[in-house]
Amino acid sequence: MSTHELYTIPAEHATWDVEMQGASRFTWEYDDGRDRLLALYQKGKDKQWDSVHRIDWDIEVDPSDILGLPVETISIYGTDQWKRFEGDQKAIDELGQHLASWQFSQFLHGEQGAMICSARIVESVPDLDSKFYAATQTMDEARHAETYARFLQEKVGLLYPINPHLKALLDDTLTDSRWDMPYLGMQVLIEGLALAAFGLLRDMTAKPLPKQILAYVMQDEARHVAFGRMALKDYYAELTTKEREEREEFVVEGCYLMRDRFRMQEVWDNMGLDVEACMEAVKHSPYFTLYQSLLFSRIVPCVKDIGLWGPKVQQAYADMGVLDMAGVDLAALMKQDEDIAEALDAEKRELLVRKQQVAETISASGTEMSVEELPAGMA
Ligand SMILES: [Fe+2]
Ligand SMILES: [Fe+2]
Repeated sequence: MSTHELYTIPAEHATWDVEMQGASRFTWEYDDGRDRLLALYQKGKDKQWDSVHRIDWDIEVDPSDILGLPVETISIYGTDQWKRFEGDQKAIDELGQHLASWQFSQFLHGEQGAMICSARIVESVPDLDSKFYAATQTMDEARHAETYARFLQEKVGLLYPINPHLKALLDDTLTDSRWDMPYLGMQVLIEGLALAAFGLLRDMTAKPLPKQILAYVMQDEARHVAFGRMALKDYYAELTTKEREEREEFVVEGCYLMRDRFRMQEVWDNMGLDVEACMEAVKHSPYFTLYQSLLFSRIVPCVKDIGLWGPKVQQAYADMGVLDMAGVDLAALMKQDEDIAEALDAEKRELLVRKQQVAETISASGTEMSVEELPAGMA
């Protein structure tokens, strides 16, 4: 089935063409890789996984309750706009499906953007160690896009087109001819924000399939952010003040764009609600305000770490109320992301052993039954 049949708002049938800028760079030096980058490249190769095998796609998902989150997490809950939903479970379920669909659709489009940006980095970055690493990331992002697309098509059954703010930032990121801009726009801003959003949903949902998907994707994203930090930290230390200030302006503008990205305007509009009132409600929703500030937990310490910490950047973060996030320990967060993914694998292995034991007990009692035939509840 064409994905276009699942878009709740029609998406462009034509491709979105962003003009290529800058040079494709070759290097003839094959031997001077930086150890840290080569170690990250090795890790990228070692940690590839296949969603066809690693994710339990046979787990059922209820499209009306995809993440199993309480209604209080819907940012218009309790406002005037919520009145038409009160006591109408069908309408609440429908809104919930649209909100989850919007969220995962943005993850999907963002992953396609990440794949294209990492491929661009392979072309444009001068050093071979970075080219090698970005090539593994291109493959990672392809696997992420594949995974989110399958989840949306098979389990959610509904897609939203790309959000205009995300599209604008991708456009700015890709049309800039300076080779560090795809890193900064994609690796630091878009990925940083996505990573925080994945993490919040991963930790809040008790639904096993989205939890697996988010945890496994996050395991890879930790490497991507590390790559952006390493490459940019070295490079930005060499820039002039003016050049650094240009990057800082890009960061400030990008962060405001990203903050506005998560107000879900298209959903309110598509559901026939008063968009302006909903946007206002979102702005004042305590849940959303908390969510929004947590979204910056990965970006702010990273921006500080790579040396883009001039007064304009600090002022913008103070204005957004996220300046304190500069103290977040990114390395500890990323270690935790890896541990969570590995713990999920361990849990699945343990369940498989238990399933096998049950099957053996049944077979010893004379009833033939394979592991696959066991009811889902046994798992
Ligand atoms: Fe990704
Ligand atoms: Fe990524």
